[in-house]
Amino acid sequence: MTLLDPPATPGAARAAQVDLEAEATLEHCGALREFWYVACTSAELTARHPLGRTLFGLPLVLFRGADGEPAALRDRCLHRNARLSEGSVLSGGRLGCPYHGWTYDTAGRCVEIPSLGPRQCGETLDAPAHEREGLILRPDQAGHVASFPVIEQDGLVFVFLGGDPSRARRPPFRTPCWNAPGWASYYMITRFPNGVTNLVENFMDVPHTAIVHRGWFRNPSQKRVPATVERADGSVLVTYSQEKDQVEGLGKLFNPGGKPMVHTDKYYIPNVTRVDYSFGEAGFVITSQCSPVSAADTLVYTAISYKLPFDVANAAVARALMPLFRWYTKRVILQDVDIMRIQRDGLTNSPGGGVFVSSEADLLHSDVEAYRTWLRLGAQGSPPSDEKRDIAFWI
Ligand code: FES
Ligand SMILES: [Fe+2]
Repeated sequence: MTLLDPPATPGAARAAQVDLEAEATLEHCGALREFWYVACTSAELTARHPLGRTLFGLPLVLFRGADGEPAALRDRCLHRNARLSEGSVLSGGRLGCPYHGWTYDTAGRCVEIPSLGPRQCGETLDAPAHEREGLILRPDQAGHVASFPVIEQDGLVFVFLGGDPSRARRPPFRTPCWNAPGWASYYMITRFPNGVTNLVENFMDVPHTAIVHRGWFRNPSQKRVPATVERADGSVLVTYSQEKDQVEGLGKLFNPGGKPMVHTDKYYIPNVTRVDYSFGEAGFVITSQCSPVSAADTLVYTAISYKLPFDVANAAVARALMPLFRWYTKRVILQDVDIMRIQRDGLTNSPGGGVFVSSEADLLHSDVEAYRTWLRLGAQGSPPSDEKRDIAFWI
């Protein structure tokens, strides 16, 4: 306890819970690395240009091979360590370094060194002299840049940094309703100045919506919201009893007939949230996948999927409305970016950050923290036990 800590309140549950540094670096993140993480969208990764991305503090370069399949390598040339992501994709789907043109295949093998000429072999020095100086004669002697397993699905490119991908704790997360009949979907990519645990909590959090998104998504109405929180099998499912509740803004479009609202939020280890609002057949699903860049820097890939309540020409109307939805959802997300920056500043502006006090509305967040802490500490022993509890709070 430091001088800055408030005196303990009898009965208050207080514990150090979130370590932004540890959860975002490969050396300290424990079993959090044993999952697939989104590195980019399929649309971002063209056939012509490499793409630089950082995951758990590790710079990566992504590019497409001759067959169009994505590849991921460490973003560092073997020669003089220039960033390969500043280079170019050459014929045959090979990656050329921007400095002296050393060239790599999708497995990270060096396949060409322009200065070795057409024979691709050292010419002047004899072999023993080359060896004495540690010089290589041919590209295959250069070794290879570290490569990482990649999977492309549902318009996203996933990378695995945990070694053998057959040991991944979960398959890459499938985007709900992607290409489903009657549904339209799009991705948004947002940079958040905070860590994954805090972001996941924000995306699952209802009480802040009436304050941070006042008028845009929900208005304070002093309504009591009962909910059930189920923690099981690496997920936290929250089912709200809000049949008479309504969402504001564009959300109103989904429910012109005033049907009962069904709202669930679900967290999946280690970094995904899924928020569902449905009104009969219509509704929308917001899926957020968080990819840690560094301690307080996260790229979030948000899938917005929606089904409108009109049967006729639904697909055409859904497509026509997409720019409006994009504008609206961007505005709402930027409000969250702002509040996540404000939280990060509070967490990091003095010693003793990452110690939270929770009320009943925060039970689901404590469950998320329990899973993520268990993973960060190496997933030794049993995971947090399965629990099902009722809560109630006011918004
Ligand atoms: S640094 Fe990459 S070719 Fe020289
Ligand atoms: Fe929010």
